[in-house]
Amino acid sequence: MPVAYQNQVFTLSGGNVSYVLHVTEDRKLMNLYWGRRVPDHAVQPELSDYQSFASFDPPASRLPSELPVLGQGWYGTPAVDVLNAQGDHVVDLRVTGYRILPGKKGLPGLPAVYSEKNDEARSLEIDLADPLTGLSVTLQYAVYAESGAVTRSMRITNAGQDPVTLRGALAVSVPLWGADYDVLHLKGAWARERALVRTPLGQGAYEIGSQRGASGHEENPFLALCGKQAGENSGDVWGVSFVYSGSFLAEASADNAGNARLYMGMNPQVFSWLLQPGESFQTPEAVLVYSCSGLNGMSRIYHRLYRTRLARGAWRDRPRPVLINNWEGTYFDFDEEKLFRIARAGKELGIELFVMDDGWFGRRNSDNCSLGDWTANPEKLPRGLAGLSERIHGLDMLFGIWMEPEMVSPDSDLYRAHPDWCLHVPGRARTEERNQLILDLSRKEVRETVTEAVSAVLRESRADYLKWDMNRNMTEYFSPVLPPERRMETQHRYMLGLYEILEEITRRFPDVLFESCSGGGGRFDPGLLYYMPQAWTSDNTDAIARLGIQYGTSLVYPASAMGAHVSAVPNHQCRRTTSMQMRGDVALCGGGFGFELDVTALPDEDKKEARAIIARAKELRGLVQEGTFWRLLPPSGAGYAAWQFVREDGKQALLCVYRILSEANTPPVRVKMAGLDPEGAYRDESGKLYSGAALMYRGFSVSIPGDFGSCMILLEKVPQPFPLPDNGRR
Ligand code: GLA
Repeated sequence: MPVAYQNQVFTLSGGNVSYVLHVTEDRKLMNLYWGRRVPDHAVQPELSDYQSFASFDPPASRLPSELPVLGQGWYGTPAVDVLNAQGDHVVDLRVTGYRILPGKKGLPGLPAVYSEKNDEARSLEIDLADPLTGLSVTLQYAVYAESGAVTRSMRITNAGQDPVTLRGALAVSVPLWGADYDVLHLKGAWARERALVRTPLGQGAYEIGSQRGASGHEENPFLALCGKQAGENSGDVWGVSFVYSGSFLAEASADNAGNARLYMGMNPQVFSWLLQPGESFQTPEAVLVYSCSGLNGMSRIYHRLYRTRLARGAWRDRPRPVLINNWEGTYFDFDEEKLFRIARAGKELGIELFVMDDGWFGRRNSDNCSLGDWTANPEKLPRGLAGLSERIHGLDMLFGIWMEPEMVSPDSDLYRAHPDWCLHVPGRARTEERNQLILDLSRKEVRETVTEAVSAVLRESRADYLKWDMNRNMTEYFSPVLPPERRMETQHRYMLGLYEILEEITRRFPDVLFESCSGGGGRFDPGLLYYMPQAWTSDNTDAIARLGIQYGTSLVYPASAMGAHVSAVPNHQCRRTTSMQMRGDVALCGGGFGFELDVTALPDEDKKEARAIIARAKELRGLVQEGTFWRLLPPSGAGYAAWQFVREDGKQALLCVYRILSEANTPPVRVKMAGLDPEGAYRDESGKLYSGAALMYRGFSVSIPGDFGSCMILLEKVPQPFPLPDNGRR
């Protein structure tokens, strides 16, 4: 049973995972276990393990509470922090009821993973209430039958008589037995997003987060603990990923008794929420993935769940078109003719979608004006959006467009008409970044204006694709139209406003392919994946830098979500020169594959190579978008990096090996493949035959001469097991 209840114990199980909760005699909720699957009812409902040692502190400091709150001996970060009407923060939550429900519902106004069939997942809701204040909390869980992924969120309701203020709300706070773990997270900066960090957990807290009003380039909303011995394909890993695109806080901590805890939720530094009697607050959702088969095991669960049950819409399962984007090819310097020539040259190479990037609207010839004025610049596009789009469609190509709808330039007609529509504090200077301010999406009239502006552009241009950009983080994040006691709600109200707009736009334009972007990958998070199945991974398009960025990103996110482009050399961010083949072999491992350079200026030799890369990308896109992904060799240091895709039916595998810097007189690298059938036989494109077991246990020998080289080996599974009687001769 995915959710079993007996003897005051709930067991959520799926795949190889169990998550066990216990209602104590005094109706407190404890977490007894999260880890490798155990039979239902196998974990004893007792807490003696936690109480067997003397402590100076009350029991609440040691017990594995599923919902730790302040005031009765819990000294860590509370899962629900409430300022009561009397001015104290004491909360005493006791279980009052529960419901087990089929399937997995969405969350009102928030992105969330979902189920398509009722037997895919089962949900559990547990109600708790504070008898004195009337505060009530419903914990919302679901467990996926196949993978054992567990979702957790909560709804907090003021069922009392007096207003209370929520000062903190976590989506999850989960205790783990023992503390001998490493912490894993994805840190970065602009053009260096999502580098994998692994560091030992010591006593105390390891905290990551964002206060930027966006998940940010610096930290991704993901935190995991893993066993010291855990590697890519073995060992225990517990991951927590937050389905949210705004500020967040996550922590891994170890207490003085040697037990750990992982939590994720709203960042109290930039969040508070007034609850009048009868009002509720819904937290976003956290997705908890446990794997006993290492980091790759965890990633595979996230990939499949996020690709198939978080992403939505017509493009979720469709092969994504190979695109050409003009940004690095022209920046702001273009007109209709130039764009048309790029599109036509792209078409000749096999490209399917032309994307017009920033600079087509208002008077925008640099980043210093016109955001908010979403009408075509007649000097650049004399026949408007419709004119260019018609010509692109006439080439039998799809047409795509860039917008940055959440922003306004002080030098714009929109700002001149509505100077109060941006986030700001009356009487204070408005901090500009990239010469722009942020529209206050907590306001209804602003949301309506943005929704209509985007709709008008999509209608007029008959666009098939929209790149939704967001190029700065929040400052003065207060909405002057909210009453003072609600101003700290602005950041979250902004996110709810953004989600409302995206829900409406994706409903109005169900056939448009949406790609999110935030100065590259500054908002590459599960929240936005719910509305847009792909995201621009990084503004850094250098193939070598991208190895690390795509490798780190793959810890949580599927290849289908990664926008990855072949750009010009020397690369505009790193000044590095790599071969066309290397750039192609890295970029085509992202589902949002394309080119981002002036293809009209390419020498014939490069065009020939580009044509071959595009043909190859089309041939492989099913495998890349839907196959299982395995990290094999990390791109750390100078040597080789490698990863691999395997089709879900196991019939095809693609091994991708990259050489960073060459070294004289060194043997080939042996890359141990993964996810193959050890009994099976595989044939490469030259007809050579391999045993699955040998490819996995001995490895595939590869030698790539010179710096910055790559090689892709496509293997087809042969129907008979290895060895074949005629030695595989065809
Ligand atoms: C951001 C994006 C780029 C490009 C520019 C345009 O930086 O990440 O891809 O669209 O904006 O201004």
